[in-house]
Amino acid sequence: MSVTVRVPAKVNVQLAVGGARPDGFHDLANVFLAVGLYDEVTVSPADTLRVTCEGPGASQVPLDRTNLAARAAEKLAARYGRPADVHVHIAKDIPVAGGMAGGSADGAGALLACDALWGTGASREELLDICAELGSDVPFSLVGGAALGTGRGEKLRTLETGGTFHWVFAVADGGLSTPAVYGEFDRLNEGVEVPAPVASTRLLDALAAGDPDALAAALTNDLQPAALSLRPSLARTLDAGTAAGALAALVSGSGPTTAFLVRDAESAATTAEALLASRTCRTARVAAGPVPGATVLGSGTAP
Ligand code: C5P
Repeated sequence: MSVTVRVPAKVNVQLAVGGARPDGFHDLANVFLAVGLYDEVTVSPADTLRVTCEGPGASQVPLDRTNLAARAAEKLAARYGRPADVHVHIAKDIPVAGGMAGGSADGAGALLACDALWGTGASREELLDICAELGSDVPFSLVGGAALGTGRGEKLRTLETGGTFHWVFAVADGGLSTPAVYGEFDRLNEGVEVPAPVASTRLLDALAAGDPDALAAALTNDLQPAALSLRPSLARTLDAGTAAGALAALVSGSGPTTAFLVRDAESAATTAEALLASRTCRTARVAAGPVPGATVLGSGTAP
């Protein structure tokens, strides 16, 4: 018996970052959009907890207890007083350490899959609580769609969207560490009174209207200067996408993936080709959103 869950990547259409809090985290106004690039997490019974991973970048994924998928299985098992005796297999397609919440997706996916495999019957609230313990972006991976995350990003309010937005994602060589990017944000803002983060009304209106031009004009990412400072070559990727006709270009979350909003699926294909030809990225992926969050695809016989 095995259970497979499909979980989407995210792009932050607004990432407003406040000053560092006493606990080291930053208050955010984080507008998430789930996009159609997916990891698939399959769990099946095993003697002890173990994690395997296949797909692009799989060699950079930790297979020990630091993997959010392993931690999700352990936390759910502990809460229900049972052993975390599962094999978690991750089929990776979301860029690793790319600022698209790939690790968070695996955490949310493993949690939902173990809940189904074990027949735990945890409520949505319980699952969301465990997600928030696992990491700031994990609750959004569970719910998907579009949402405003406040606090450290884990307190979610679902947002209405009036249409589908088309994107191209330029995947860089290697990853960027999220704590390192936040650390660089703090360094760049040393001595500055960082204002409290607020969601942009203009941006929320653009999402609700499904208007790509209005959304393009409102996209912001306060972590972008920090990501560019740590990886200056990303400026060339952003320029290449803009030159190719993208409506807007920005770093995705903490990077180094860069995101390009385009008008439709056809422009997505031509922009992706132009980005590849520019040789300023490793690969370019096309995806649209919003899409649903973690979804059980079904159960089957373990391989
Ligand atoms: O919550 P998560 O484990 O994904 O966060 C990873 C790191 O990113 C944190 O250790 C912290 O350095 C940084 N972070 C932050 N403020 C947030 C979210 C993450 O400083 N709101």
